Amino acid sequence: MTTTARGRQKPPTAQGATIWLTGLPSAGKTTIARFLAGRLRSEGHRVEVLDGDEIRRFLSAGLGFSREDRNTNVQRIGLVAEVLARNGVLAVVPVIAPYADSREAVRKRHEASGTPYIEVHVATPVEVCSERDVKGLYARQAAGQLTGLTGIDDPYEPPPAPALSLATQSQTPEESADSVHAVLAARGLV
Ligand SMILES: Nc1ncnc2c1ncn2[C@@H]1O[C@H](COP(=O)(O)OP(=O)(O)OP(=O)(O)O)[C@@H](O)[C@H]1O
Ligand SMILES: [Mg+2]
Repeated sequence: MTTTARGRQKPPTAQGATIWLTGLPSAGKTTIARFLAGRLRSEGHRVEVLDGDEIRRFLSAGLGFSREDRNTNVQRIGLVAEVLARNGVLAVVPVIAPYADSREAVRKRHEASGTPYIEVHVATPVEVCSERDVKGLYARQAAGQLTGLTGIDDPYEPPPAPALSLATQSQTPEESADSVHAVLAARGLV
């Protein structure tokens, strides 16, 4: 608590951060984000989840899956996340973000305002992702009904130095979310 000039107690300003969960389709990003957000909310934090699918329905409506459009999508989400995080919100971002240079631009945007940016690689192997195939994308690609699937016939550039890498094939979603929470705790963000 800080004390104002008139002697009233003021709650401390919340410290926001962006927690970006990058990884292949069906890696577990959305699932982990939901568990993490639930835990953070129950602890009293202000939390927003910016999920790739929802964002593509409004903020990025009209964008496709070319390299340029994927980058534009990530920059828009990065901008919104940074604004939220700079204002005390924990912005959880389960978005594929396949390109290293796109993610670096988002990191730099955060660094420019001194806003914490935590990159988590949901590093589920492609074989496991294609087995899970939550949205049927891998099956459609295999059947020739879809091209440009990240990790199959479109590039995924794994982050070289993430704050955390999650092997979700040998954990429960709750364990994965708890590992992310531990990183936030170690950095004094929760
Ligand atoms: N440790 C784990 N963490 C996250 N998900 C897991 C884990 N173990 C198993 N799963 C399962 O993997 C699936 C992951 O699906 P999810 O929608 O979260 O993937 P995604 O990364 O958001 O994919 P997309 O990029 O297509 O949105 C879910 O069915 C989930 O229950
Ligand atoms: Mg998802």
